[in-house]
Amino acid sequence: MKDIKWQELGFSYVKTDYNTRCVWKDGAWGKVEVSDSEYLPIHMAATCLHYGQEVFEGLKAFRGVDGKVRFFRLEENAKRMQRSGEYLRMQVPSIELFEEMCTKAVQANAEYIPPYGTGASLYLRPLLIGTGAQVGVKEATEYTFVVFVTPVGPYFKEGFKPITVTLERLYDRAAPHGTGHTKVGGNYAASIGSGSRAHAAGFANVLYLDPSEKKYIDEFGAANFFGIKDGKYVTPDSSSVLPSITNMSLRTLAEDLGLTVENRPIPVEELATFEETGACGTAAVISPVGRIFDPLTQEYFEYGTEAGPWSVKLYTLLQDIQYGRAEDKHGWTTLIDIE
Ligand code: PLP
Ligand code: COI
Repeated sequence: MKDIKWQELGFSYVKTDYNTRCVWKDGAWGKVEVSDSEYLPIHMAATCLHYGQEVFEGLKAFRGVDGKVRFFRLEENAKRMQRSGEYLRMQVPSIELFEEMCTKAVQANAEYIPPYGTGASLYLRPLLIGTGAQVGVKEATEYTFVVFVTPVGPYFKEGFKPITVTLERLYDRAAPHGTGHTKVGGNYAASIGSGSRAHAAGFANVLYLDPSEKKYIDEFGAANFFGIKDGKYVTPDSSSVLPSITNMSLRTLAEDLGLTVENRPIPVEELATFEETGACGTAAVISPVGRIFDPLTQEYFEYGTEAGPWSVKLYTLLQDIQYGRAEDKHGWTTLIDIE
């Protein structure tokens, strides 16, 4: 085990020893390689550098209460990478290749898997880029698939304490019929300005509105939105929102706990009616949202200074499954063989 202050980890890059790589060219994926370099040799005309032919994923491996290491919903991340890559006309890895690349990356860095009880986990970042040289705007003829891992703690420094966010009334992260539903790098490039303006103003994150009409809630820069009221778990239905695997899981858990799930457009004014709101995602897990600022009215929607009871229940159940404390009755975790 590496000598790392696991409890003090935030969500940032910590160098590990190895990553996995695989190249698609001449019509096929090559062999999976384990590399000890943090760098990629890349052609200056690679399509990822000029035309943004780049998609990524984010998933976690958890060391459980029983000492075993588990992926959470690996196959869903593999399928989403396929959908994102296909949207950008890329060659995509099969589910089996995705699994092999992730498994080998974790196994090679076993000493970086945070110990149970520290609240930390191992974050995997699968990355698919067009590496073939091209000057015309079209698909690359070569692709590189990389998986690196890094141990992480909470995404928001507040941890499970409610965060304060702002609505983004001016800018969008994705176009109405564009790439919002896929995990392409360009969405995040487009969100950096809003994110840093919000941080400078003291907000933890921004909450985007639907890009066509600005009437409905879309999602946060790196997490989905949910609201809870009257025994209902409500989350936006929007074509510009990334289908979060955490949110998909929470919808199931919400039903298991007796909540009714509503997946529908959420008008901004409805924010005034929720008892609890939260951000959910792999990195964020669940981050309760205590206050949402609306720059239009200069007022806050308020949800309290502590996480609400349903958010606590959902968070606990989700983490219990991830850390092997509760029965994984939906079959969401995969054990990883660690020597
Ligand atoms: N929405 C955006 C824009 C994200 O970047 C993420 C992170 O992956 C999520 C939502 C949450 O998705 P997931 O729960 O699959 O991590
Ligand atoms: C994740 O939750 O895994 C994400 O990808 C968020 C990331 C953009 C920081």
